[in-house]
Amino acid sequence: MYIGLDLGTSGLKGVLIDDAQGVLAEASAPLAVSRPHEGWSEQSPADWIAAAETVMDALAPHGLSQVRAIGLSGQMHGATLLDQADEVLRPCILWNDTRSHEEAAELDGDPLFRRVTGNIVFPGFTAPKLVWVQRHEPRIWEKVARILLPKDYLRLWLTGEHVAEMSDAAGTSWLDTGARDWSDDCLTATGLTRAHMPRLVEGSEPSGKLRDALASRWGLPKGVVIAGGGGDNAASGVGVGVVKAGDAFVSLGTSGVLFAANDGYQPAPETAVHTFCHALPNTWHQMGVILAATDALNWYAGLVGDSAATLTGGLGDLKAPGKTLFLPYLGGERTPLNDAAIRGAFLGLEHATDRAAATRAVLEGVTFAIRDSRDALAATGTRIDRLLAVGGGSRSDYWLKAIATALGIPVHLPVAGDFGGAFGAARLALMAATGAGAEIATLPPIARTIDPDRNLTAAFDTGHARYKAAQSAIKGLT
Ligand code: XUL
Repeated sequence: MYIGLDLGTSGLKGVLIDDAQGVLAEASAPLAVSRPHEGWSEQSPADWIAAAETVMDALAPHGLSQVRAIGLSGQMHGATLLDQADEVLRPCILWNDTRSHEEAAELDGDPLFRRVTGNIVFPGFTAPKLVWVQRHEPRIWEKVARILLPKDYLRLWLTGEHVAEMSDAAGTSWLDTGARDWSDDCLTATGLTRAHMPRLVEGSEPSGKLRDALASRWGLPKGVVIAGGGGDNAASGVGVGVVKAGDAFVSLGTSGVLFAANDGYQPAPETAVHTFCHALPNTWHQMGVILAATDALNWYAGLVGDSAATLTGGLGDLKAPGKTLFLPYLGGERTPLNDAAIRGAFLGLEHATDRAAATRAVLEGVTFAIRDSRDALAATGTRIDRLLAVGGGSRSDYWLKAIATALGIPVHLPVAGDFGGAFGAARLALMAATGAGAEIATLPPIARTIDPDRNLTAAFDTGHARYKAAQSAIKGLT
């Protein structure tokens, strides 16, 4: 048996699987985000531990005496700051906190960072947050002895050890992503040294052992291995079997991600594509990240006072994009724009724009943003031969048909079930305990395949061209 724990932004989820990867039990506990100032987004690491305790308490009655390993997945980029005694110095600054956008732009202006890390220094990444703390909270900065990513703080609690793994470390702006090692130059440029960083392992390697006190509390045997695990996107990639070049998934969650596995390291920071280590050795992945996917639909649903399911449920067959155009930049955009200041828009409103037309425009706008990410990935040489859809938004057939048509590729929808970060983390646990590799990260059973509507390809091409024109028109409009 194996356990996967996924420390998300809105909750912590646990899954227990058997040796044949069948899911035996699942549990989750909610987490709240605190937004004390405009652009800030924080969580207390103590809440993560409380959530993990709740989840383990709920899994324990299923019988954990056969568990061999636990894998971790988690929200990326967060800065958890610890002093010499491993005491938390301030709330964790999360991935969607934009306070350090100036510091990010400064670091990104130094060619070192793109050259070594293979990525733009985005405002959500970890390094600029530390520069912000240095400038705005000098008393805390003086005491910083160690910096951990969110799931690696959970690991510290589970094992007593400071360890990170490659996929999450690649989102810090301190990793030499090609060499899979911390970059002394990037650390020095932000006033830090290797001593501030945890030891690095691969996601499928052991990182430590579960502390005896925790093992006996939940009835696990002694010596349970804690696997490296992965950042939530890489762990989801392992969960849905996207581990080799040609395979990709689109995740329609709060944010949207178009994720493709790569055999080699092929950075292209100028495209605003993220190039990170995968959670498996000698494998990388790329992704385009759009900041509002279901977030945009839920925003619109709230505005018109209806539920997203009702709005999308009544749309019928896919239609050609109409006059109304929506740009989903409610909180800025990462790929391909790297623009924290840009904001969304409805354009081309007319008397005939009713609730259904505006709903279609919202779905099309997010679809066009995903097509932008596909184009950015393609510009780096990444090909997508097979595309799976995951996340809450994949419940809308209309949306999946629009994506298949705009990208010109069939979209495969897995059977109901959770193949996300927690399941991927459990698979990484299985690998760490048994020495298995990518071969066990198989594709989930596919419930349905949604083909592009070839009669609407030209209309979606035209719609995307209008979207690009609108994007240029609103850039700089604040
Ligand atoms: C990836 C990113 C998000 C977080 C959210 O770069 O910022 O997907 O990992 O969980």
